[in-house]
Amino acid sequence: MDTQDARGRHPIGLLGLGVYLPERVMTNDEWSEHVDTSDEWIVARTGIRTRRIAGDEESTADLALAAARAALADGAFEPADIDEIVLATDTPEVFAPDTAAYVQARLGVGNIPCYDLAGSGCAGFVLALDIARSRALANGRRMLVIGVELITRLMNWKDRNTCVLFGDAAGAAVVGRGPGAVEILAATAGTDGTKSDILGLETGGTRQPVTMERVRQGLHKNLVMDGREVFRQAVHRMSAASLEVVSTAGVSMDDVALVVPHQANLRILNAVAARLGLSDERVFINVQKYGNTGSASVPVALWEARDVGLIKPGDLVLLTAFGAGFHWAAVLLRF
Ligand code: ACO
Repeated sequence: MDTQDARGRHPIGLLGLGVYLPERVMTNDEWSEHVDTSDEWIVARTGIRTRRIAGDEESTADLALAAARAALADGAFEPADIDEIVLATDTPEVFAPDTAAYVQARLGVGNIPCYDLAGSGCAGFVLALDIARSRALANGRRMLVIGVELITRLMNWKDRNTCVLFGDAAGAAVVGRGPGAVEILAATAGTDGTKSDILGLETGGTRQPVTMERVRQGLHKNLVMDGREVFRQAVHRMSAASLEVVSTAGVSMDDVALVVPHQANLRILNAVAARLGLSDERVFINVQKYGNTGSASVPVALWEARDVGLIKPGDLVLLTAFGAGFHWAAVLLRF
């Protein structure tokens, strides 16, 4: 399909996609050795069966770097072809500087600008895509967008309400103008800061610095979550953002071939599908294999949907995500 605009320019979109999944697979039965839980409970309440756990020698930048290299290779790019890096994570290499700086140095891209989009939870990658599109539009930049999470190292392995939900992963995309780009047709995003208390990772910061007392209480790794309220907000916001982005693009939900949502919980995904009137085969789901991988979840799901041949040229594919903040974002792509 010829997607050039009236001025003969190629569209702005995804020019390469890559992922990194740590080798170690952890089953639900293994969680029973750490907390009072069972495979039956986890599968029934979340749909999750396994997740990946990063190796002890791996850090966030390692995961991000591997996904970035895979995305560059996918688009046949060299590091020198990248003009800017935006990296979404809630589980950074260190507090400061940002993880993007470590990735920049090791990728060998030169002194290009790079920065993290931190704290936007699992909506981070989709928000970062929107930012990358704006930068490509305004400055002609070719952006490297990364979503990465090594959350199993910062969560509380003794809190059964949260620990069984998560996994580690990274996904990356090259975004810019070019022939064959998976066009970004429209994007939307929003935040409800009044809901900042329903989901968060309170591992230090100025409000609750790490002290010996907090470490003794196990509060230095504190993932706080009001599960039921997060569930409600997730369904509401991912559905609404999906409807908004198709409307902005001037199409309807019937035109969308595949929805690739943030993989938090199978029941959340089923509820979003029901609300949007989507049949099972129009919603991509891999939460059973990887659990909730935060900012990595959407790029990993998109990569896998493409890899298994679920996406055809010309298909409209909708990405939708929510995260701590409470943030939400959606992007409509044309393959
Ligand atoms: N194993 C066994 N029992 C458990 C476990 C576990 N791993 N975790 C909780 N329980 C217990 C609870 O203690 C509770 O016991 P009680 O009734 O004796 O108090 C019981 O199971 C039921 O708990 P509920 O909260 O009612 O369970 P619910 O059906 O709401 O499912 C869940 C909980 C899975 C957390 C659900 O609320 C949910 O998925 N919420 C959204 C989670 C989410 O997406 N978080 C986002 C993470 S970050 C992000 O994506 C941006």
